Amino acid sequence: MRLAGLLATVSVILSNTLGFVAAQGSKPVFAHFMVGIVEKFTVQDWLNEIQQAQAIGIDGFALNCAPPWVDSYTPKQLDNAYTAAQQLNFKMFISFDFAYWSNGDTGNITSFVGKYAAHPAQAKFNGGALVSTFVGDSFNWNAVKSALGSQKLTVIPNMQDPASLGSVSTQFGIDGAFSWYAWPTDGGNSVIEGPMTTVWDQRYIQGLGGRPYMAPVSPWFSTHFNTKNWVFICEEQPVRRWQQILDMKPALVEIITWNDFGESHYISGSEPNHSDDGSSQWANGFPHDGWRDIYRPYIAAYKAGASSPTVNTDEIVYWYRPTPHAARCSNDPLGIPRGAELMDDLVFVSTLLTQPAQLTVTSGNVAPVTVNADAGVHVFNFTMGIGKQSFSVSRGGRQILGGQSAKDTVSSCQTYNFNAYVGKF
Ligand SMILES: *[C@@H]1O[C@H](CO)[C@@H](O)[C@H](O)[C@H]1NC(C)=O
Ligand SMILES: *[C@@H]1O[C@H](CO)[C@@H](O)[C@H](O)[C@H]1NC(C)=O
Ligand SMILES: *[C@@H]1O[C@H](CO)[C@@H](O)[C@H](O)[C@H]1NC(C)=O
Repeated sequence: MRLAGLLATVSVILSNTLGFVAAQGSKPVFAHFMVGIVEKFTVQDWLNEIQQAQAIGIDGFALNCAPPWVDSYTPKQLDNAYTAAQQLNFKMFISFDFAYWSNGDTGNITSFVGKYAAHPAQAKFNGGALVSTFVGDSFNWNAVKSALGSQKLTVIPNMQDPASLGSVSTQFGIDGAFSWYAWPTDGGNSVIEGPMTTVWDQRYIQGLGGRPYMAPVSPWFSTHFNTKNWVFICEEQPVRRWQQILDMKPALVEIITWNDFGESHYISGSEPNHSDDGSSQWANGFPHDGWRDIYRPYIAAYKAGASSPTVNTDEIVYWYRPTPHAARCSNDPLGIPRGAELMDDLVFVSTLLTQPAQLTVTSGNVAPVTVNADAGVHVFNFTMGIGKQSFSVSRGGRQILGGQSAKDTVSSCQTYNFNAYVGKF
């Protein structure tokens, strides 16, 4: 056995016996995981996903799932998820997707929650096994709690109306709330101008009166199905939303999402073994991995209660859409997504710097633009030109990093794609 292997083994033994490596923090950060697209996942696939998430400080996945009579593989994939999580000291909890579950499913919900509540990989909060939802505001959790007797639960469901939180809590047995208003909106799926504010967060915090708020963090939103075809305006949001989180210091954070390719807010790698719900049309060839590099220092800062992130390595992360928002695509029966008219044609760059430096961006046919960037994490935008996209960071007159993006912008298109292409140097 090589020394590195031996040390790794010793550290795994220590972490398993003493639980001090990668244990769930007291300010946990979870990520929403779509079980509905991983029918074919093996435990090894789950291990790969978990390692990517752990590398940026994520504590666990919220397992968004439909009942077995909708997705027959839900029980098997929950088992795979908890099994893999236990091996890596990662955490899981179920997020019942009430687009598919209903108020009459108390028996099945109780048996799913009960099956994992005492599992070593079960995420906990305030001493109870954590459980959450997507919508399902009027589900009665008191019935689940009493059926499970002494097994304590902490129920932090997605509630759509923060004004209802006072009355609903005792009636339906909820302990906190999770908001799905992770993008600029007047409510529901209304599209308004960006940037994202904390107006919804403040309503939840007020309605909860001190009970735990699980705040949503999302980098983007663009979807293009025949059933839903819109964008939310969140252009600098991959950075700005995290600063709001550092300022608000909510009890928990849930990243929306880890792997929802359909709504373009994934931060995972490409997941070669996920099934295609049609989103490959806009997600293939559009990596978002660079956003994880921005999230990592913010997650560490959130957990430490710090007001700004600490950067240890110089890096830039950039993102942009492939075409100007006013381009009319030639072969797309769905038409342009709602909200597209509110988007700007800009290239966004986040600088992660140990010391101040100069950032120069050359976007297509637009003349190069140079800005001064301070140490820490910052975000800048530049007028989008058509063609090649080049980035350069200099310090003391010397280039320290940069290069040309693998993706060019183009002025024409066949089908609409408002997803972001994310790269890094
Ligand atoms: C994907 O599936 C293949 C075939 O089942 C398997 O060999 C591989 O380990 C899986 N995971 C990844 C990340 O490719
Ligand atoms: C779960 O749902 C199935 C299908 O609707 C039903 O047959 C079964 O009785 C339910 N189980 C419980 C524990 O309620
Ligand atoms: C672009 O940057 C300017 C200057 O910081 C800022 O005022 C503007 O809001 C940014 N645009 C977007 C869409 O974020």
